Amino acid sequence: MIKIRVPATSANLGPGFDCLGLALDIWNEITFETAYKLTYQAFGEGSEKLNKGTRNLLTKAYALVYEICGKKITGVKVSAENKIFMSSGLGSSAAAIVAGLYGANLTLGEPLNKQELLNLAVHLEGHPDNVAPAFLGGLVISLTAGEELIWRKHELPDWTVVIVKPQVEWLTKSARAVLPKSFSRNDATYNIGRAALVVEALRNGDLELLQKVMDDRIHQSYRLKHITGGMAAYKTAKSFGAAALSGAGPSIINFVHPQDAEKAKKEIAAAFEEREIETKSIVTNPSGIGAHMI
Ligand code: HSE
Repeated sequence: MIKIRVPATSANLGPGFDCLGLALDIWNEITFETAYKLTYQAFGEGSEKLNKGTRNLLTKAYALVYEICGKKITGVKVSAENKIFMSSGLGSSAAAIVAGLYGANLTLGEPLNKQELLNLAVHLEGHPDNVAPAFLGGLVISLTAGEELIWRKHELPDWTVVIVKPQVEWLTKSARAVLPKSFSRNDATYNIGRAALVVEALRNGDLELLQKVMDDRIHQSYRLKHITGGMAAYKTAKSFGAAALSGAGPSIINFVHPQDAEKAKKEIAAAFEEREIETKSIVTNPSGIGAHMI
C-alpha cells in the first residue's frame, strides 16, 4: 500500500500570471492499494462530484505513467481523502494530476525522476504554476522555454494566509476565456515589476511591500467582474493586507498579520454573503514541502 499527500496551491499571486504559485498547508491524502481491478473512491471535498466512476484526472495521470513506462495497468484501489476545495482556484486539478503521476511512479519503483514527472504534469495541466508547487512545495517561479520547463523554488517565512471561497460555479476554462488576447505595453510593464517584487516581498516576509505590489492588470479585473461579490471581497481583503484572486478564482487569498486573520476571514466572507453567496473559508500557512509519501 502507498499513501501520499499533495498540497493545495495558489497560482498567479497577483501579477505572476501563469508563472508564480505557492503550496499551502491544505492536503489531499491518497492511498493506492493492490486490487483485482481499478476502483476509485473520494471522501471529503468534492466527493459527490468525483464518485462517478473511475475516469478522472487522477486516474488519467496514473495511467499515463504506466503507458510511458510500457507497463500494463494492474488493478489498484485508489482512495482519496480530500481537503482541497474543488473549482476554487486552489489547485485541486493540479493536486489530482500530481497524485496520479506520483502515486503511479512510486507503485512502479520510481522509473521517472522529478523533472520528468513535472514535465508530464505540465503537459496534462497546460501551465506549470499549480503543478510545480504541488510537486515541489514552497513558492515556485516556473515557465516553459520551448520544450524546457525552468523553475526555481523558495521556502517562505511563516505567512498567515486567509482563503475565502464563494460557492459559485466558475470553471478555469471560462476564467481563461474572459481574458483579452493581447495587452498594452503599459499593462505588461505594470505586471513585470510587480511580479519580481511579489517574490521579493514573499521571501522576506515583508507584508508592507507585498501590499503595495500584489496587483495586476492581466487577469484579475477581467475575472472579478464575473464573480458575484468578487470585487467587493477583494477590496475588503486589501484593507486587511495583501490580496489576490487565487489562481483563476473564485477564491480570494489574503496575506495578513496573524492577529487580523479571523476578522479578515469574516469580513471577506460577509462581502459574498451580503449578496446571498455562501462561502467556505480557511486560515492556513504556506507549505515548504510538496507531494510526499506518508
Ligand atoms: N494561471 C492559471 C490561470 C491558474 O490564471 O488561469 C489557474 O489554473
